[in-house]
Amino acid sequence: MQIPTFKLNDGHDIPSFGFGVFQIPADGSTYKAVSSALKLGYRHIDTAEAYFNEQEVGKAIKDSGIDRDQIWVTSKLWIQDYAYEDAKKTIDNTLQKMGLDYLDLYLIHQPYGKVDEAWRALVEAQKAGKIRSIGVSNMTPKLWNKWKSAFKDVTPVVNQVEYNPYFQQKPLRQLMAKEGVTLEAWAPLGEGNADLFNEPLLKRLADKYGKNVGQIILRFEHQEGVIIFPKSVHESRIKSNAEIFDFELTSDEMDAIRALDKGKGMHDPDAPGVGESLLKAFDVHAND
Ligand SMILES: NC(=O)c1ccc[n+]([C@@H]2O[C@H](COP(=O)([O-])OP(=O)(O)OC[C@H]3O[C@@H](n4cnc5c(N)ncnc54)[C@H](OP(=O)(O)O)[C@@H]3O)[C@@H](O)[C@H]2O)c1
Repeated sequence: MQIPTFKLNDGHDIPSFGFGVFQIPADGSTYKAVSSALKLGYRHIDTAEAYFNEQEVGKAIKDSGIDRDQIWVTSKLWIQDYAYEDAKKTIDNTLQKMGLDYLDLYLIHQPYGKVDEAWRALVEAQKAGKIRSIGVSNMTPKLWNKWKSAFKDVTPVVNQVEYNPYFQQKPLRQLMAKEGVTLEAWAPLGEGNADLFNEPLLKRLADKYGKNVGQIILRFEHQEGVIIFPKSVHESRIKSNAEIFDFELTSDEMDAIRALDKGKGMHDPDAPGVGESLLKAFDVHAND
């Protein structure tokens, strides 16, 4: 499978399609899913400290036998570790846990707390060669403008946000395009949202192209220039989700899917108290 790449603002070429591992348990399931994905041609894996499965991702990469420089590996720093010294320590721990010499991309997972200190640690780790590219996640236009001054020396390469045909992030995409920041989609399949999978337009296009609805959604997102990494624990879906590079939606079809936008997602990073509730939901130091 030939996966296209997108050029980031720091000159690196990122595979525009990959595999996400949020909510896959670290009981061997992550190892199995990532191993399947790599076997099926995926070359980009998206994990995070707060997914608790970095170790299995690292082991699957190592055991795949694929050269390290052929796989793009992303992880993310959790809010609890944003203080400068903690962030530096976490980066070293992550590399050790994953058995890697470097990460291709490391993100500030959530836009709350000591984001400026965390960014300084990421910039230093990048200079030290521990991380190739650095970016952010869940930044709305409001949160981007709040933190922008922290990024004055190094601009994030990506902003990873909720994105799918129901939530197309139009104002944010305009702002990110102006700033030279590429959009990465989380929930590219709406986390399996049944309404989305039953959209008559998407079903019609699936029939026309001999594809399934998931493939139409992912193809649309790819043609929009957004980086995607759908998650599945089922090998048949891992396989079919990647089969989107042998057809092209027309510009009228792209416009029709653009019209499905509801302008609203499952998660609102601007809502009051989100940082606190995320901290309660994901304690990355519970077992320290
Ligand atoms: N930065 C952030 O804050 C953030 C937040 C969320 C996610 N992410 C990243 O983004 C990645 C993708 O997002 P996501 O995992 O939340 O959601 P997603 O990829 O949109 O959807 C995954 C869900 O859809 C199902 N699915 C997968 N392929 C399907 C298909 N072809 N047809 C029907 N259903 C299908 C999966 O079920 P099965 O597994 O049972 O197949 C799973 O329940 C994550 O894994 C993670 O790496 C980042």
